[in-house]
Amino acid sequence: MSAPRVLPDHSSAPLLLTDVPGPRSRALHERRRQTVARGVGSVLPVYIAHADGPWVTDVDGNRLLDLGSGIGVTTIGHGNPAAVAAAAAQLEQVTHTLFTVTPYEGYVRLAERLSEKTPGDHEKRSVFVNSGAEAVENAVKIARRHTGRRAVAALDHGFHGRTNLTLAMNHKAAYGTGFGPFSSDIHRVPNSYPYRDGLSGEQAAERTIAHLEQRIGTSDLAAVIAEPIQGEGGFVVPADGYLPALQDWCTRNGVVFIADEIQTGLGRTGTWFASEHFDVVPDLVLTAKGIAAGLPLAGVTGRADIMDAPDPGSLGGTFGGNPVSIAAALAVFDELEHGPFFAEALRIGGSLRQHLTTLASRHPLIGDVRGIGAMYAFELTDPATSHPAAGAASAIAAYAAQHGILLLTAGSDANVIRFLPTLTTTDDQIEVAVDVIDRALATLA
Ligand SMILES: Cc1ncc(COP(=O)(O)O)c(C=O)c1O
Repeated sequence: MSAPRVLPDHSSAPLLLTDVPGPRSRALHERRRQTVARGVGSVLPVYIAHADGPWVTDVDGNRLLDLGSGIGVTTIGHGNPAAVAAAAAQLEQVTHTLFTVTPYEGYVRLAERLSEKTPGDHEKRSVFVNSGAEAVENAVKIARRHTGRRAVAALDHGFHGRTNLTLAMNHKAAYGTGFGPFSSDIHRVPNSYPYRDGLSGEQAAERTIAHLEQRIGTSDLAAVIAEPIQGEGGFVVPADGYLPALQDWCTRNGVVFIADEIQTGLGRTGTWFASEHFDVVPDLVLTAKGIAAGLPLAGVTGRADIMDAPDPGSLGGTFGGNPVSIAAALAVFDELEHGPFFAEALRIGGSLRQHLTTLASRHPLIGDVRGIGAMYAFELTDPATSHPAAGAASAIAAYAAQHGILLLTAGSDANVIRFLPTLTTTDDQIEVAVDVIDRALATLA
């Protein structure tokens, strides 16, 4: 068990020595063009040499405030000392044996930790894999095997990964352009998007359920998958009551309810899992991203009777549950349990809510401010037309980068700025970032 940690870096201002990207980053980018596949994008081609707490330092010596955490991965801070020490110690012991050949205790211990901390006190089982998309793939396999049914429903504005199956689930066609044919028996149904649909949770659930019943039919439906707060879709927080109604319908109809907590889980929203905010106890919970503080690991955790449906040997893979990643993950669990991180996530959420609401009162382009904990966003809407303000979010992110702030965009219309800061980010640092965004919005006006 690691001791509670004093959060380290309280300096608030980025340090810029060159343009962003600087000359070394630009030279590396040129080299990359000759050798890295074009399909691998980079939001901001600033090449990182070092990272610590909420900061990343690039090869030109610029120190940038990272409000994206590698898309929600380094939740407990870049280079969290406990996770780094645990992974380094494990490297000295065993780096790989393959759990499905000769197992090791860490895998079992992490499964125990997930059984304790995922919602619900029923008996649970876990399997570990390498990436979020692979967790989604496995959850679908398990749900189909358990129910003997084929169809899977995902929500509008959802995102579940870049494998062939998960491409079929994503809302945005752009992720899959030219990659078809896609997996069959995958359906998309309307979500709850209060800012856009104006529906209560009950009304939105009725609409979703009508689609499930009429367009798919319950007898064929194996699973419904939902992100409790949609990530790539623009931090869409469902209306109160929506998720419980959907889950209740799933339970009554023998449909497996899968919570994709890959972006929302493990402290991000101030609780172990975002499902807790909505009073839902999913049948299966998916983890990845923040689970191992930056090392690759993902998991499916859920009801024992569902998880035990597949036959021995039908789950797993060469690197799934790698001992080094598992050691880091166990440290993450200790850090979350004994450190200040849940409270810090709520503090960050409070600070963002206050600052972004003030910004919204000054800039009519901000149509909505939403989120929970350290998962906050604002959506940009043209006040004259009420249409998504296409281009405004990327312009703000570009301006922020020039001023040393790394911001991520999101949303099906790419009109959302989302904040996924490390939980080591201070209020002063948030203030510095908001000031830059304020100036960016002023230039747009
Ligand atoms: C909610 C959600 N599900 C699944 C994925 C896919 O995870 P990975 O990129 O690790 O495959 C992501 C990644 O952004 C995600 O945000």
